[in-house]
Amino acid sequence: MNYQLPSVATVVPLTGVLTGSNGHYQKRIQELGGLYSDPISFEELKKLRGAQVAYEVYEYRPNNHPGDLIFGTSILYPGKVANEYFMTRGHLHAQGDRPEIYYCQAGRGVMLMENLDGGTKAVELNPNDIVYVPPYWIHRSVNVGDSPFITLFCYPADAGQDYDIIAQSGGMKSLIVSDSAGGWREETNPRYCSRQRDVIQKLRHR
Ligand code: NI
Repeated sequence: MNYQLPSVATVVPLTGVLTGSNGHYQKRIQELGGLYSDPISFEELKKLRGAQVAYEVYEYRPNNHPGDLIFGTSILYPGKVANEYFMTRGHLHAQGDRPEIYYCQAGRGVMLMENLDGGTKAVELNPNDIVYVPPYWIHRSVNVGDSPFITLFCYPADAGQDYDIIAQSGGMKSLIVSDSAGGWREETNPRYCSRQRDVIQKLRHR
């Protein structure tokens, strides 16, 4: 038998860098057009800080075999577009029945989740919290603090990502915005349109 070799990676606690990872990507503010509900504020921010990294991901991906695992760290920097907190693009797993866990390493954030039928759940994550994202839930991280929101994630290697599903419904159903008391609240996205029955059926059986 041809054994894979065990491997070890290390999370640098305050930066979220994963040493020993074999993949890394960065998303800059200027690449996130269409994500935020206030396009004018987004354009202003893009002019000022467009080249700045909004979030980055380090991952360890042994292979894509069913039954294997991919893990890594996500580092989402703090900021707001108007009153909406910085967030990741978000996705549904292309294999929708594949779940994921996120462990909060540092910072304060929200895992915003939405199922195919439009049910939503926003869970606050502080250091040492773990959220289980069940199958068929779209998920995105939101930084509601003022330091980097660092999570460690792990998901099945054959899950894949569907990034278009969010744009197709005009964004996620909920927005995570700042409230007047320095905290966050969930607000209904006025541009959201529900998925049609036949679309949901297709996603469920893909
Ligand atoms: Ni995922």
